[in-house]
Amino acid sequence: MPMLKHPRTGRPHLRTVSITGVGSYLPSRILTNQDLEKLIDTTDEWITSRTGIKERRIAAPHEATSDLAFAAAKQALHDAKISADQIDLIIVATITPDMLFPSTACLVQQKLGACRAAAFDIEAACSGFVYALDIAAHFVQSHTYDTVLVIGAEKMSSVVDWKDRNTCVLFGDGAGAAVLQNRPTAHGLLTTCLGADGTKATLLDMPGGGSACPASTESLGKGMHFLRMDGKETFKNAVNAMVSAATEALNRCGLTVGQIHCIIPHQANQRIISAVGERLGATEDQVFVNVAKYGNTSAASVAIALDEAVRTGRVRRGDLVLLVVFGAGLTWGAAIIEW
Ligand code: UT7
Repeated sequence: MPMLKHPRTGRPHLRTVSITGVGSYLPSRILTNQDLEKLIDTTDEWITSRTGIKERRIAAPHEATSDLAFAAAKQALHDAKISADQIDLIIVATITPDMLFPSTACLVQQKLGACRAAAFDIEAACSGFVYALDIAAHFVQSHTYDTVLVIGAEKMSSVVDWKDRNTCVLFGDGAGAAVLQNRPTAHGLLTTCLGADGTKATLLDMPGGGSACPASTESLGKGMHFLRMDGKETFKNAVNAMVSAATEALNRCGLTVGQIHCIIPHQANQRIISAVGERLGATEDQVFVNVAKYGNTSAASVAIALDEAVRTGRVRRGDLVLLVVFGAGLTWGAAIIEW
């Protein structure tokens, strides 16, 4: 029997991977730019004009990343109309795990009661959700698993230096989740492409707390357990990498940017989002933006945005959706989904 080709990509037709449910969770506490004006030497005007961020969510002290992930996952399971015992695998993308080990995915598995599921974390910083989608899709396509829960979750407020105005104004907490399943339909994930450049690892990092620099009085004193970023260089790399990842994904599917109904870029900075949109030749209407409300939630960012886009009717059945991400590593990626 001849190998079936996918109608859009022209590639061998593996099992179709559909996103059958999405969900998100944002902690209730809102920290506005005006609140930050009282904590550090900054202004609403500076933050708004340089980043587009107006406010961000901050998790309660008792809420860990696994709690945010669990809340988003419950919504996604409800949306997919499945129960926790149907999940074969849980992948959590995060750079703010509850602890170094066990994985946050195992803690989420316990909270959900997903007793049949295997579970592991992946770490690709702000690109984590698209990396996790790619991994999950391969498990479903290859018949290894039928139902995979993918979560991007972060408590960024636990790793930012609240005295460093260069970084603390940028980040927020939250989680987004998606259920991936095989469905006998043409709709689904059309392509994913990933990239990385470890030669630029020091542009955005948190050096303390791992095996290279275990926690000590000295490492604490030097602030090595806080996120550090060269903002300007990161900005330039973000725009270039996101444009080329999106272009590669479009080319793989034989699509033009004009055919995409909704572009969901990583929500780090309105100026990055606008520059990426312009360089791709997209209209403003095509690009989904919620950075003003949540700031940069790292691996959760596009997962939260996807859920919001679906819930508000911005993404409808049959629409073509382009996710494009960039983060520490450096890492980047893009995914195209026929919704
Ligand atoms: O999610 C992973 C990817 N992350 C990103 O993509 C983030 C990429 N970078 C950026 O978004 C931007 O570079 C920033 C928003 C971080 C900074 O914007 P910028 O236009 O590159 O500003 P800058 O770093 O050139 O800083 C300009 C000035 C500096 O003052 P001097 O040295 O010129 O006197 C900073 O000290 O703005 C100052 N500044 C602030 N002023 C008031 C930095 N942060 C603040 C602040 N409030 N919060």
